[in-house]
Amino acid sequence: MHRPAASSPVELPDSPDRVRRLAKSLSRLYPGRFLRSYVYWKIRTDPLYPAVTRSLADAQNQPLVDLGCGAGLFPFYLKSQHYLGPIHGLDIDDQKIIAARTIATHHWPDIDFQTSDFATWNPAPHQGHVTLLDVLQYLPPELQHDLLSRAATCITAPNHRLIIRNGLSDPSWRARITHSTDHFARWIRWMPNSPLSHPTRESLEAPLRAAGLHLIFTPLWGKTPFNNYLITAHRPN
Ligand SMILES: C[S@@+](CC[C@H](N)C(=O)[O-])C[C@H]1O[C@@H](n2cnc3c(N)ncnc32)[C@H](O)[C@@H]1O
Repeated sequence: MHRPAASSPVELPDSPDRVRRLAKSLSRLYPGRFLRSYVYWKIRTDPLYPAVTRSLADAQNQPLVDLGCGAGLFPFYLKSQHYLGPIHGLDIDDQKIIAARTIATHHWPDIDFQTSDFATWNPAPHQGHVTLLDVLQYLPPELQHDLLSRAATCITAPNHRLIIRNGLSDPSWRARITHSTDHFARWIRWMPNSPLSHPTRESLEAPLRAAGLHLIFTPLWGKTPFNNYLITAHRPN
């Protein structure tokens, strides 16, 4: 895997051919056909990682904590796009963290992965970006609120971003499909838990506004039927 030069800017794969090549190279990092195929199609079809990377482009040297990093795909994607800051990933699933650590050891030793439950995550050592990608629905509403309040304390400078991608609960047909698909992910044992509660727009806004952050909600549907939004929060000057 290509290692970044110190001054390289974030560059997004912009042509279908480059996206295909990136999907291939990232999928090859993972063991087993199932994971490889998941990674390949995630990179080919999901607009999530390019969208988040674009949101970070103005401050790509800041530390980033990826909460619920799974097997580390987003941190690896970011580093493959020449992100310069240190990245710390944490997840409750020990097997995914072991897989992520094994890859990081060989390719990006500056990414640090740790098995950890959000319930006990201490935000105090981290000041910088925070990402929470497709995670909140696995937490009970009280923990969602509390985690968002803690994550907001990491956003200490105007160029820091708290970025959430989540399916939102609302009356739309997209919300119903999102909910069923998350249950399917549990049924095939991809996820250790069933989704507990999809957040609403209001439940995301409450703790982040109370912490003084400004929020932007953008639909991130791509070609999917899911009710996904990208929520970017920052601290105004
Ligand atoms: C759908 S996956 C998203 C993975 C990754 N963010 C991505 O976009 O590829 C949700 C992740 O949240 C993690 N998770 C769920 N509950 C958690 C908790 N209480 N503490 C830490 N991680 C948790 C799961 O183990 C899983 O890896």
